[in-house]
Amino acid sequence: MRAVVVRSFGGPEALEIAEVPVPAPGPGQVRIRVEAATVNPVDVATRAGLLAKGGLMEAGPIGIGWDAAGVVDATGEGVDAFGEGDHVIGLSDRLVPLAAQADYVVLDADAVARVPEGVDAVAAATIPLNALTASQALDLLDLNSGQTLLVTGAAGGVGGFAVELAAARGLRVVAAAGDADEALVRELGAAEFVPRSANLTEAVRRAVPGGVDGVLDAASLGIPAREAVRGGGAFAAVIFGADPLPLRGIRVATVGVRADGAALAEIVALVERGALTLRVADTYPLAEVAKAHERLAEGGLRGRLVLTL
Ligand SMILES: NC(=O)c1ccc[n+]([C@@H]2O[C@H](COP(=O)([O-])OP(=O)(O)OC[C@H]3O[C@@H](n4cnc5c(N)ncnc54)[C@H](OP(=O)(O)O)[C@@H]3O)[C@@H](O)[C@H]2O)c1
Repeated sequence: MRAVVVRSFGGPEALEIAEVPVPAPGPGQVRIRVEAATVNPVDVATRAGLLAKGGLMEAGPIGIGWDAAGVVDATGEGVDAFGEGDHVIGLSDRLVPLAAQADYVVLDADAVARVPEGVDAVAAATIPLNALTASQALDLLDLNSGQTLLVTGAAGGVGGFAVELAAARGLRVVAAAGDADEALVRELGAAEFVPRSANLTEAVRRAVPGGVDGVLDAASLGIPAREAVRGGGAFAAVIFGADPLPLRGIRVATVGVRADGAALAEIVALVERGALTLRVADTYPLAEVAKAHERLAEGGLRGRLVLTL
């Protein structure tokens, strides 16, 4: 079968479509015949070597891809929740030799959930990584209904889901996004909009005197985003090492997404109720994964790039 791997770190040219044996599911695992797999900033970080400090590559190639949507074609011992033929999505959340961008991926059954009713594999593949990250970041922030949340990068993959999930939790969302993104983020549920061209801190504090209760900094703006938060508020970063100092009693934490099939199933239910919007910017055949990386690097996407298999 085909699998996207890197054997040495670098630019898009470091991506290789390798021919490898089809993996077998172990106990508690399912094998998914992958129909669609997204391309995310984390793939760029992985192939550039930013996620593998400590010499992991010495152990062999690293598989690329976190989100998979497809059909279960084999199950390991002890798996009752899924069977052959089930349409599922799942998160591959570790650096492993074979990841989601492959003809088949083996995942722990508790990293998997059923595809939302009426949603095709391409759109479904956009859910696990970004929606779980947004949800787990909101959990870290631990805000209550009625409180205010700033989401930076609100038109992006993580940010867009964060706006919708936060609004569904009863938070008042201030969305910071590109100047042309106001209609999009308001449609997702933002109460206030701050364009990228504005001074972030000042604009947020004008909209919310005293500062917001928390920020989910999906665009990794750091200090200007922290300065928009009230004393004693909360800050969720999305990149380790890009978190600002916790001045003024602000709780700063970095989300590190983890697979969670039960939480993913709750997210699927929200999709089925129309509470989450799935956005696909473009699709590429697996063989054109390097082109997808080049397009992602150009920026300006409003929706995920998805590889089809
Ligand atoms: N820690 C974890 O577990 C975890 C999990 C998933 C993702 N992440 C990280 O989260 C980050 C976001 O991921 P993503 O998939 O959402 O990326 P994305 O889809 O590219 O979204 C980022 C968004 O931020 C916007 N942006 C950039 N600068 C901005 C500014 N100054 N003001 C307002 N908006 C701005 C971008 O707009 P343009 O495209 O127009 O520039 C884009 O819409 C990435 O760094 C990713 O690696 C972390």
